[in-house]
Amino acid sequence: MDPIGWAQVQYPWRHCLFGLLFQLLLALCLFSYLRVAPGKPWTMESLDISAKESCQLTPSRPPLVILLWTWPFNVTVHLSQCSRLRPGTADCQLTTNRSVYQQADAVIVHHREVSSRPWAQLPPSPRPPGQRWVWLSLESPSHCRQLKALDGYFNLTMSYRSDSDIFTPYGWLEPWPGQPAEVQAHLSAKTKLVAWVVSNWQPNSVRVRYYQQLQPHLKVDVYGRSHQQLPSATMMEVLARYKFYLAFENSLHPDYITEKLWKNALQAWAVPVVLGPSRRNYERFLPPDAFIHVDDFPSPQALAQHLQALDKDHASYLRYFRWRETLRPCSRSWALDYCKACWQLQQDSRYQTVPSIASWFT
Ligand SMILES: *[C@@H]1O[C@H](CO)[C@@H](O)[C@H](O)[C@H]1NC(C)=O
Ligand SMILES: *[C@@H]1O[C@H](CO)[C@@H](O)[C@H](O)[C@H]1NC(C)=O
Ligand SMILES: *[C@@H]1O[C@H](CO)[C@@H](O)[C@H](O)[C@H]1NC(C)=O
Repeated sequence: MDPIGWAQVQYPWRHCLFGLLFQLLLALCLFSYLRVAPGKPWTMESLDISAKESCQLTPSRPPLVILLWTWPFNVTVHLSQCSRLRPGTADCQLTTNRSVYQQADAVIVHHREVSSRPWAQLPPSPRPPGQRWVWLSLESPSHCRQLKALDGYFNLTMSYRSDSDIFTPYGWLEPWPGQPAEVQAHLSAKTKLVAWVVSNWQPNSVRVRYYQQLQPHLKVDVYGRSHQQLPSATMMEVLARYKFYLAFENSLHPDYITEKLWKNALQAWAVPVVLGPSRRNYERFLPPDAFIHVDDFPSPQALAQHLQALDKDHASYLRYFRWRETLRPCSRSWALDYCKACWQLQQDSRYQTVPSIASWFT
């Protein structure tokens, strides 16, 4: 074969090989991307970080130093090694030792402990170059004081709101092959109708007023401070005996859906009756038939009638468990939340400032 002919044969072949390699890479990334967006937004949580990582090489570098400015509510958290929670990820050095401040790549400030005198309680200024400050709260805006005083200090937000830079919801669903026998076992334990655990009883709150209109039509077992006692050691066992749980939030804000739903109701296999943001907002995180929304009914009395009807109609009640054939609920922990911050801060090193937490966190 003459040189020109060889070249003509060789080049298309090399071109083709590179093209193939490129397409293979593209396909790999696309495949991971599709795993993230299966059309069921509520399963994204467990997949998003692993998917992003499979599309890029992780160079080895010293672990990020993340200073936790305070423990949340002054209670020590038993931290996890983040690479154990998600194998293949790099660890961070998480610490509350303020003497690392000058070396810290990021500082996570939990709102409550700086909310009485922010100007005195925030980390010192000027901050080391490149250091990022993360604002953290899982309480709703109704329970965060002094937000306005924080304008202009923070680079990232970390909260239950899905548009936070570091999204730390109270719970999420994970793919899980459920067993019909498991559903049966849980349902056979149910001998009671409706439970509600409430520790912060505010007579004028939306939830207490709703309860007071519901209660003449429906027997609700109320637990908590100034009601029946419920020790935390037996709480889940007691709640598992109920068919329904009133997952009523203490205040109404977008995405503010707490452990009342994820833990007290779903982990106890009780059907949640929710009062909080709109049904549409809940449906971003849960299938529509996983819960009953108070807004589905014209009055508390109509809701009471519906629950009583479901009590007598086992087939209809079972429909609220269908989603458990493929999914299971998971709940947050501080240790996991801090690891989410570790992973996110590794992924994203953009310079940015949150102009106003107060005008965003509403
Ligand atoms: C905090 O870090 C400093 C400097 O690394 C060290 O000397 C000190 O012992 C640490 N304090 C605690 C309580 O671990
Ligand atoms: C946390 O502890 C600090 C120092 O002991 C104290 O000043 C502060 O009031 C406490 N904050 C909370 C929310 O308990
Ligand atoms: C973080 O925000 C501060 C305050 O606005 C700003 O000066 C700093 O450049 C930001 N840093 C990063 C890493 O984004």
